[in-house]
Amino acid sequence: MSEPAVKVHSVAVADASLGEAVEEGLAREPRAIPPKFFYDRRGSELFDAICRQPEYYPTRTETAILERHAGEIAAHCGTDCRLVEFGSGASRKIRILLDALQPASYTGLDISGDFLLDSTRRLAVDHPWLEVHALCADFTRPFHLPEARGQGRLAFFPGSSIGNFEPVEARALLSRIAGELGTGGRLLIGVDRKKDPAILDAAYNDARGLTAAFNRNLLERMRRELDAEIETMGFAHRAFYNRDAGRVEMHLEARSPQAIRLGHRAFAFAPGETIHTENSYKYTPAEFESLAGAAGFEPDGFWTDSRGLFGVHLLRVSA
Ligand code: AVI
Repeated sequence: MSEPAVKVHSVAVADASLGEAVEEGLAREPRAIPPKFFYDRRGSELFDAICRQPEYYPTRTETAILERHAGEIAAHCGTDCRLVEFGSGASRKIRILLDALQPASYTGLDISGDFLLDSTRRLAVDHPWLEVHALCADFTRPFHLPEARGQGRLAFFPGSSIGNFEPVEARALLSRIAGELGTGGRLLIGVDRKKDPAILDAAYNDARGLTAAFNRNLLERMRRELDAEIETMGFAHRAFYNRDAGRVEMHLEARSPQAIRLGHRAFAFAPGETIHTENSYKYTPAEFESLAGAAGFEPDGFWTDSRGLFGVHLLRVSA
């Protein structure tokens, strides 16, 4: 049998390397390294495993919302659209919607080219009626969507990855998406909601220690890829809900005096000093609608679960 056709497009990705980000992040006060550096192969595998942990409710809850409301979501969006998935990764969640949505085309957009090609190929095999595109690009940078079949545009941005951006960056990203979609285009986006901090603390401190390993993998990456000298177990995983900021914060905290040696530089840590590795913002539905409104979207639908843990917003680009 011949290979299913996936139209491949790619945008050169010029970005700060791990080395530059670490040097810069350890020199600044307070110390911080952007969360996108979690995701090498090992980090992506650990994140996949986190999503299956009983305490990590977002993946399971969002999937259940999409399964339960696929028909209604499709009725809102209409069939024959040009569907684009942001950060498509393994493209698991979109499969729930494809039969109901019957889009004319699907474009998976991800920074990780190998992963993207594998997943879009599998999607094309399983849905021979669908025109499939793979766009390898960093969607936090300017990009253009490829020409594809279909009437209106629908973007799908699941997983509450929008929560890993600072609100001003989230707004700028949503504005860019609105610009790419054009008037009348729609965005279906998964957003984690504010809730009892005990549920959040458990989700980011799973009993098996996978989130701790995911966080510490950043230090392992520094050892593997930058030849950094670090005592990785000298740093503890810390994750907690910061109520004032409305976000879960992850840090790596020195358990005792520590040093990270990187080439000719050494960064000393006093006990308790941290590297801030991630923020995961949580939004009430009203807060998120207001953020999206400032980016040029109006609300067009909203679905949630019976416990109000997670929200799936349908937004429409305002005229
Ligand atoms: C990818 N992102 C939405 C996850 C989150 O919940 O913020 C990343 C994660 N960090 C720790 N656990 C999961």
